[in-house]
Amino acid sequence: MKGIILAGGAGSRLYPLTQVASKQLQPVYDKPMVYYPLSTLIEGGVREICLISTPHDLPRFRSLLGDGKRWGISIEYFEQARPEGIAQAFRIAAGFIGADSVTLILGDNIFYGGDTFQRAFTGFSTGSTIFGYQVTDPERYGVVEFDAAGKAISIEEKPERPRSNYAVPGLYLYDNEVVAIAAALKPSARGELEITDVNLEYLRRGQLHVHRLGRGFAWLDAGTSSSLHDASAYVQTIEKRQGVKVGCPEEAAYRRGFLSLAQLEALVTTLPKCEYRDYLAGVIQEDRRLEGMR
Ligand code: DAU
Repeated sequence: MKGIILAGGAGSRLYPLTQVASKQLQPVYDKPMVYYPLSTLIEGGVREICLISTPHDLPRFRSLLGDGKRWGISIEYFEQARPEGIAQAFRIAAGFIGADSVTLILGDNIFYGGDTFQRAFTGFSTGSTIFGYQVTDPERYGVVEFDAAGKAISIEEKPERPRSNYAVPGLYLYDNEVVAIAAALKPSARGELEITDVNLEYLRRGQLHVHRLGRGFAWLDAGTSSSLHDASAYVQTIEKRQGVKVGCPEEAAYRRGFLSLAQLEALVTTLPKCEYRDYLAGVIQEDRRLEGMR
């Protein structure tokens, strides 16, 4: 499965911060925001990734993430000239997707907890898998409605009167049909190629699987100043309490088997002396200790 990180958009809601760096490069506690969706893809076992952003911001992403080799993955870069909708990503990345299935993650969505996504990625074969997450403000999102048997029966984009409290988070899995579906889409009333219209097409075909994310799972979107602050506070709370990092691509790549312990060790020596390096050195030390006990 290929992976797309969509990290463009106008970023107007975070002005004036976005005068300095694009939204997905802003710090979420101790890392740039894009590290979180990148780590989610790596944890899910996705190795071939492309990042889509604006012509203005793409060079910054490229210098931050490079070609991905240091994490045992590949990262390609594509421009979105104007923010004409999330589903435009499948048009831009059609050549990259080729004949594969694909997962799209929004660059400002942060997920934490459990192995739901790993299982969804591994178990994925056809159609589409999306998720439903209970929120207090569903009108800000795509909203999915379920029947009594738990089957998804409608999806609406930012409805004035939501039919449920289940928002659709920005992580979507599709089979290769998505390329043709996106190619045939018409812009919505607000002039965008809507991801909700892609999902509605899969629903119409009877091929949309909506997995409800349960309690104990965190989905944060860091698209406003307030939610950006909340996301930082959340990550800080978890990291301070547990001593584990959220959204650390080096660790994710190692745990997923994309890097050996020796490769992780070599990578860590290239990092400047800082708390992030100390953390990874701790991961290595612990695993070396466990190796010694075998
Ligand atoms: O966060 C989940 C929600 O994301 C879903 O529930 C909605 O169904 C979906 O439409 C989307 O809603 P948003 O209002 O959050 O979309 P927004 O326009 O803010 O774009 C989300 C991210 O995608 C944002 O970081 C910018 C990026 N983006 C967006 C568009 C429209 C692009 O890179 N290019 C684009 O053309």
